[in-house]
Amino acid sequence: MRRSGNRALFATALASVALTWLVACVSSVAPQASAPWPGADLAPPHPSDNPPTPIKTELGRRLFYDGDLSWDGTMSCATCHEQKRGFTDPNKTRQGFDGTPGERNIQTLANVAWFRSLTWGGPHVDTLEHQALIPIEGFVPVEMGFGGKPEGALAQRLKDQACYPQLFRAAFPERQGEISLDTITMALSVFQRSLVSLDSPYDRYQRGDLKAISDQAKRGAALFDSKQCASCHAGPHFTDAAIPGRKPVETFHRLAIPADGKDAGLQRITQKPEDAGKFRTPGLRNVALSAPYMHDGEAATLSDAIRHHFGLADQADERLKQSVSDREVGDLIAFLEALTDQGFITNPAFALPNPGCPVAGDAALASEEANSRRLRNSPAGP
Ligand code: HEC
Ligand code: HEC
Repeated sequence: MRRSGNRALFATALASVALTWLVACVSSVAPQASAPWPGADLAPPHPSDNPPTPIKTELGRRLFYDGDLSWDGTMSCATCHEQKRGFTDPNKTRQGFDGTPGERNIQTLANVAWFRSLTWGGPHVDTLEHQALIPIEGFVPVEMGFGGKPEGALAQRLKDQACYPQLFRAAFPERQGEISLDTITMALSVFQRSLVSLDSPYDRYQRGDLKAISDQAKRGAALFDSKQCASCHAGPHFTDAAIPGRKPVETFHRLAIPADGKDAGLQRITQKPEDAGKFRTPGLRNVALSAPYMHDGEAATLSDAIRHHFGLADQADERLKQSVSDREVGDLIAFLEALTDQGFITNPAFALPNPGCPVAGDAALASEEANSRRLRNSPAGP
């Protein structure tokens, strides 16, 4: 894209106006994470080549909620990742925009900034920037449907709108406001790294408020350690995939052997027989909101999900060779329920953005009609 010096200056001015506006809005609702978990670094990590700014985060949020990111305009990221459910949905699997059946259960997005291995089965998917291409362009399964479509179709669609060119100029001044899959996925990733959930009752308990959780949840927390749940669901994000230094493949574990023709998990990528049925440990924040469970959504309740760990007769993993009593399962569930972060699921900074253009100088541009044709919360879906 060609850009004149004047326009660059204009973009800088816009960016600073927008920045002030956004800082005012966002800082008042930022998650409280003052007195942290011992030893945990609670500021979400950002790669040096995609630093966050308030305006880039806002652009990412609009993209996340924009149906224009799907080929026919009906499906946004938020269609499948709903804030009120911790950014997942209530289906076992969810079909793509054109009805292609989904293959795996949708994951929550809380604290994905820290995850070093993303998705149930892709140890090579190690950045959010890379992951975001999968729903937009992927074929296995088709989700948003831009795979195989003319190159640049999505970028052109955004360039043709009134607001996006201004937003991209404000968010990517060093790239002269380039609108491309590259900058689209960068902005989406910055927004997703802002999805921090660290203020559940259990966090408050960790920070010293001993009344924040029930006695049953405290027993569950103790069991979570003694039953070695915390060896895989490790650290403050409850997955070894967020533990620094852990190799991605080491965060995949087999709880069950897949039946013939069923999802082979890690084996699909590595082709190694010993990897059949291995999936990456999911994070457990807000897990009480994200039923159904497991990679295939086959576990309807938390109780089913916990018991599913202990069913394999010739289990090779010592940690999964135990039994759990009904009482222990009840206590573990009380603990998992204490990981629900109400502030996270109601934080307006993560919700459907206001209609109108956040960087628009004039009223016509800021109008709802010009800019929000497709911004949406999840429409009623299958
Ligand atoms: C049709 C539903 C659907 C849409 C639309 C969708 N996703 Fe997902 N998302 C899923 C499913 C299913 C998974 C789990 C897939 C897997 O792990 O193989 C997932 C996983 C993810 C993960 C990995 C989470 C983890 O714990 O590793 C991220 C991040 C994510 N999606 C972001 C996005 C973004 C960004 C968009 C929009 C560009 C988007 N998704 C659109 C269904 C969807
Ligand atoms: C050996 C590693 C390991 C241990 C130990 C372990 N888990 Fe898991 N957990 C996993 C993996 C891997 C999955 C996903 C498996 C799948 O989808 O097939 C999972 C899934 C879950 C889920 C479903 C989450 C979702 O979003 O679908 C819950 C809940 C859960 N585990 C709780 C526990 C509890 C409670 C314990 C201790 C009693 C425990 N886990 C012990 C690895 C482990």
